[in-house]
Amino acid sequence: MAELKGVALVTGASAGIGAAYATSLAARGYDLALVARDRSRLERSAAALRDAAGVAVEVLAADLSHPSDLRRVEDRLRHDDISVLVNNAGIAVPGRMVDMSPDALEAMLLLNVVASTRLARAVAPGFVARGRGDIINVGSVVGLNADRPGISAGYTASKAYLLALSEGLQSELGRAGVRVQAVLPGMTRTEIWGKAEIDIEAIAGDRLMDAEAMVEAALAGLELGERVTIPSLPDIADWAAFKAAREALAPNMSRSQPAPRYRP
Ligand SMILES: NC(=O)c1ccc[n+]([C@@H]2O[C@H](COP(=O)([O-])OP(=O)(O)OC[C@H]3O[C@@H](n4cnc5c(N)ncnc54)[C@H](OP(=O)(O)O)[C@@H]3O)[C@@H](O)[C@H]2O)c1
Repeated sequence: MAELKGVALVTGASAGIGAAYATSLAARGYDLALVARDRSRLERSAAALRDAAGVAVEVLAADLSHPSDLRRVEDRLRHDDISVLVNNAGIAVPGRMVDMSPDALEAMLLLNVVASTRLARAVAPGFVARGRGDIINVGSVVGLNADRPGISAGYTASKAYLLALSEGLQSELGRAGVRVQAVLPGMTRTEIWGKAEIDIEAIAGDRLMDAEAMVEAALAGLELGERVTIPSLPDIADWAAFKAAREALAPNMSRSQPAPRYRP
């Protein structure tokens, strides 16, 4: 008998990277719970996935930046049929913080940061109790290089947060059998660019990955045991070197005396 894979709940599943996760996870035999705001678009995707993969697909129309909708999705995640959470829904408000509406900035952080965190919080206790489960957080490579000119400081910071959240959660939950993966895509061909008023065609094709290839690589990374996956990074030793450089700071990051250069 085929192994029961359980339900993968994917946020932002109506388009781009989330839609690619839905397709790839369905092909691997997972039933799906698809989350986004646009119900009719989700229903169309759900029908196509049921036909193509023969899996059960439910639709949860929700605006994850609204507390009552978010609580509804949290409740769904507390059921013990859930085996995967893909925290993918995210927006990128363009421009410098000084030019950005504070409300737009807050809405981005509510979705990219608060919703992802609350959803992980909702699903984690069940995963720990069952000794298995996957939390996949879709960050971005921009979170690693926050000082480079990018889409916006708020967006970059939200993606850096997701990397830190993933690494911290992995250390809290890993021993209980829970896998937590941060996926850090580079530029990926999706609707997010148009929404941020950036012309995707102006980006060199050799720097732009298709969402389907990005997600297949990320799922391969998960199976390889990676806890941070950068789908385009050719040599994983480069990530190991980055981590080693960070760890080399550790012995000197908390001492009783300030460094000599700060002494009068
Ligand atoms: N594309 C890239 O180059 C790239 C690179 C690095 C990281 N990422 C990250 O990848 C993730 C997915 O991005 P994408 O490029 O696939 O974007 P996308 O094509 O714009 O898709 C975004 C998805 O999120 C949903 N969504 C947006 N606001 C929502 C809300 N308030 N509540 C619930 N769902 C919401 C959208 O559906 P509705 O509008 O129907 O809600 C849609 O399904 C994001 O976290 C993004 O930061 C993307």
